[in-house]
Order: sequence, then C-alpha cells, then structure tokens
Amino acid sequence: MSNYHIKHLEEYYQVYRKSIREPENFWEEVAEEHFMWRKKWDTVLSWDFSKPEVKWFEGAQLNITENCIDRHLTTRGDKTAILFEPNSPDEPAEHISYKQLHTRVNKFANVLKAKGIKKGDRVCIYLPMIPELAISVLACARIGAIHSVVFAGFSSTALATRINDSDCKMVITSDGSYRGAKTIDLKSIVDDALEDCPGIDSVLVAKRIHSEIAMKAGRDEWLQPLLDEASSVCEAEIMNAEDPLFILYTSGSTGKPKGMVHTTGGYMVYTAYTFKNVFQYRENDVYWCTADIGWITGHSYIVYGPLANGATSVMFEGVPSYPDFGRFWEIVEKHKVTQFYTAPTAIRALAKEGVDLIEKRDLSSLKVLGSVGEPINEEAWHWYNDNVGKKNSPIVDTWWQTETGGIMISPIPFVTPTKPTYATLPFIGIQPALMDEAGEELKGNQVEGRLCIKFPWPSMARTIWKNHERYKDTYFSAYENKYFTGDGALRDEVGYYRITGRVDDVIIVSGHNLGTAPIEDAINEHPAVSESAVVGFPHDIKGNALYGYVILKDTGESRDQNNVRKEINQMITEHIGPIAKLDKIQFTVGLPKTRSGKIMRRILRKIACKDVSNLGDTSTLLDPEVVQEIIDNAL
Ligand code: WTA
Repeated sequence: MSNYHIKHLEEYYQVYRKSIREPENFWEEVAEEHFMWRKKWDTVLSWDFSKPEVKWFEGAQLNITENCIDRHLTTRGDKTAILFEPNSPDEPAEHISYKQLHTRVNKFANVLKAKGIKKGDRVCIYLPMIPELAISVLACARIGAIHSVVFAGFSSTALATRINDSDCKMVITSDGSYRGAKTIDLKSIVDDALEDCPGIDSVLVAKRIHSEIAMKAGRDEWLQPLLDEASSVCEAEIMNAEDPLFILYTSGSTGKPKGMVHTTGGYMVYTAYTFKNVFQYRENDVYWCTADIGWITGHSYIVYGPLANGATSVMFEGVPSYPDFGRFWEIVEKHKVTQFYTAPTAIRALAKEGVDLIEKRDLSSLKVLGSVGEPINEEAWHWYNDNVGKKNSPIVDTWWQTETGGIMISPIPFVTPTKPTYATLPFIGIQPALMDEAGEELKGNQVEGRLCIKFPWPSMARTIWKNHERYKDTYFSAYENKYFTGDGALRDEVGYYRITGRVDDVIIVSGHNLGTAPIEDAINEHPAVSESAVVGFPHDIKGNALYGYVILKDTGESRDQNNVRKEINQMITEHIGPIAKLDKIQFTVGLPKTRSGKIMRRILRKIACKDVSNLGDTSTLLDPEVVQEIIDNAL
C-alpha cells in the first residue's frame, strides 16, 4: 500500500525516506492505486539532467479529465466540483456538480473539435475567473489540445507575444470582466493583440458583462449558442503520459517570457498527491484557493489537483477588497470553507484593515491555512495565524514555482510542526540541495545557499516551448546535474528550509514574478528615454515594489518630469500590464557599470533600499562618481 495520505510525523519521515531510496517504486505505487490509466507505463522514470531529459510513466496512456471528472461520476456525481462565487456578493453562487462539469466540459470539447482544434494544437485562454475558464482548460485537456492560459491582467502586447510564441490557433475570451467595482473590456484587448497574431483563425467569446462589443465576422463567435448545439458526449482523447498538457508562461530574468511545458501523467500524479497531503483534504471539505487560474497555483490547486481528488474547489471571480475588505471572510463563512490558500500580499493588505471585519464572521469551519507566491514575513504569518486561524489552523507555507508544477517544500498540516517564515521540510520525493558560490553542495544544517533540486519529481516542467536550449541554460547549467531554482534558501538546525528570495533578476511583486529586462525594454520604448535599470525594494503590502533608474535623452527640450513618469508607467502598462508599474522613478545622468558595461544592480538595489552603508568597492566602475550622484538624488 502506498501512503497516499500521511497522518503523522513519523509516517512522513518513513514515507519520505522510501520516496528517496526507491523513488520509482514509490511513485509507481501512488500512480497505480489512485488514478485511472488506459494503459500502464513501461518505465516509471528515465532521466538525464545533462540533456536535460526527464520522462515519467513512459508508455502509459490516460486522459487527465477522466481522472478529474469521469471517475467521480458514480460516487460523487452530485457533489459540487466547482463552487463559483461571483464578483458581486448579490449574485448567487453557482454550484457545478461533477455531473454538470462532465456535461459542460464535453460540450465545450465538442465545440473546440468543430472549430478544427485537434490533439497537439495550442489554444490560448484569456478569460476572467468565471466557470468557462476552468471548463475550457478541461475541454482542451479532454481532446488533447495544449492550453496556454494567459492571465487576464496582461496587456494586449503581452498577450500577442504569448500567442505567437506558441503558435496558438484559437483564443477563448469573454466580452469583459468584473473586478470589484470596475468592468474591464477584455475583448478589445484581444482585438488589439490579434492585429499582430496572424495564426489565430477563431475567437470564442463568453458573455459575462453583456456589453456591446465588436465581433469580427468570420473570426469571432459567441460561445453560448455553440455550446447549446453541441453534443454532451465527447470521448476523451487517449494521451501518452509524456504528451504536453499545457504551456504556461513565466517571466525570465532576460528576454521573452518562458513557455513552460508541463506533461500529463506525472503532473497529474504529483499535483493530486500534494493536494491531498498539503491540505489534508477530506471528503466533504470545501477548499478555496484565491489565486487566479492564469497562474500555476490556479492550474495545479484550483483545477487539476483538487478535481483529481474529487474535491469541491471554490473559484472566486472578485477581489479581496470588494465590496469591502471583509469579502474573503464573508465567503469563508457562507461556504463553510475548510482550507483557505492565499498569498502573503493579500494577507498584508487585509491585516492593514484591522480585525473588525473578521470578527463579524464565523470562521470556525477553517482547518488549514495556506500561503504561496513569496516569502511570508513574520508579522503577516502571526496575523494570519492569530486572527484567521485563531491559532487552531496550521499554516502551510508552500514553496514552489511555475516550473515545478506542484508544491515542493511545505509543512504537512497536523504532521509537521510549523515555524513562522519557514516552508519547513521537503515534500515527499523532493531532494533539495543548497549550493555555495563555488558550486559545492553545502552539507549539514545551519547553512545558507542557492536552492537546487537533485532528483527529478513527476510534475517538473520538461522544457521551454520550442526553446530547449534556454531551458537547459536557465535551469541546468549553473550546477552540474541539478535543477537550479533561482531562489536562495537557508536550512536551520533541524533541517527546516526558509526561502530567502530570488537570487536572479526576477522580482516578485504582490506574488507575481516580473523580470527586470522586459520592464526595462518597455521603459526604453519611451522616446525620451535613453537607458534604464529596474530593481526591487521592500514594500509593506506588495512585498517588493519596483524602482526605476532612468536616463533621459538630452534633446534640449525641457520636460515635466512628472509627466514623463506617468508616460513611462503608461508604456509599461501597454507592454506588460499594470502589475509591472514602477512605484518610484529616479531620473539620473548615468548608471553604475562595470568596465565591461554590465549594470551593477547590486548597488542600485542598495540605494533603492536606502542602505548605502556598505556598497562595496565602487572604484573599479566605469564612472565611480555616478554612484554619489544617484545617492544624492535618491527618492
Ligand atoms: C517565490 C508560484 C517564498 C519563489 C507557485 C519562487 C516563494 C517564485 C514561495 C515562483 C514561498 C513561491 N516562500 N517564496 N512559499 N512560493 N515563492 O512561478 O521566489 O509564480 O521561485 O510560482 O515565487 O513563482 P511562480
């Protein structure tokens, strides 16, 4: 018997040891006992990090939607699979049962087929958090099309880049979306993007806000009439375990976003197994992850992981502050939420509002609280623990990445004693390593270094879409035979891990990964800008905010600096989206550079953090005087 559900610490250690000593036997047992395969695998694992190549369950055949939907129909047909909570508290919640989900996914899948979408085709999904988002994801998986969900807060330029990078054939979107008191005109963002996307033949449009929108003849169609006509029977496409399931873009420190490719069998096994254990999910629990399905957290822990376990997964369309900052607690009370999974940035924003709005609500249904996306600071951890969990619900601080597909380091609630700001112990099957500057592994406890993973796990991304070299360079070149995460971490005296933050040029703002290079590219598009450098600095709510150093061209004209600041942020909004706007913009005459022309971001970061005590040796810079000039004018 595999230990599918771990219940105490001794068992964790025992199962962990087994998963390390005999990984293949371990994962084979999990896969065999808890999932529905059309054909079993020939080989559990083959791997070579030097290529890098990783294959799990090769030779196996399955369809993930049969695991997430069909197999629950006999025992859980009327159970709520997706509990949709709309933006407005006045609009009733929608309980979509497993049976209804089955029908809706099949119909949607038939619509995709009728539009000519086949196995292996890429479909871009640009939707708000409405049921159609989860359903279209599953409909793609049903027919073996590769979904590429783009978070609906990204701009038209960012959307076009992603559509073109993966040669999508179709876009699924909506007329618009509700976000708190605002409505957003999504369809016109799609229209703008598609000016630059020759590969898109068709656009399916869900109706959400019932606004008047332009529909391009021959390309755009309303979704509902097509669904009404479609058959509710759609045989699941038989997929190989290593067939791609989806592409999801994440920011890199340089260049274009990276289309991380996740495959089917291993991803399913690992997300389901982590979901069950990290949230100690039991039948009849009501699980709520507040992330957007546009991010990996939503893919793995709103859609696939929960549904593979036959869970009830809440999907919330709105924002934590609408109609007031008590909305989360209202929803917890209303649906008797048992597991609540959110981001530190949301916790900090809510903590600022005080506890009155919490005390009005009955949160006694809660059993487990989760945190994801960025390091959780001690103050936020305690606020969450004391006021939301009433010191009764363990906090699982889950560390993982788009690239890892599933949770990698996390306490198991009621099993692992928690410690504020620590993600604690590696999950079953995960072999972390901390590396020093010289590339040696740091053994033993009480060490700090760069976080790598030494052995494959089932849900790791297999490549970057059409760019395997970049995959290799980014993740497998820094340290031989190891996956490099881009994060720093320390291991304390008992072996608990604490993630200390990114060690590359990715900055996490409100839990969203942003690369400095694309932001600088957007700034440099401004006609008055000659050069720029962006760094992060600590922010009370967002965790990090962005600080831009900008050199303006000398055109002889006088300019209103505040106008230029606004225009620069406008440029960023157009090229990436409002999440990447700068909080501070300092105009400068130069940037600190090495003699080879590399910007010394370390110095700029320190100045942005108002920590200029120890800038190190600046005498070897190309232009050492510029540092003092920047310090003198720092914001
Ligand atoms: C950061 C989100 C500290 C980390 C699932 C990682 C965290 C990046 C935590 C991935 C955590 C995520 N503690 N840092 N619990 N969770 N991170 O790809 O820097 O959006 O590399 O995946 O977020 O962000 P991504």
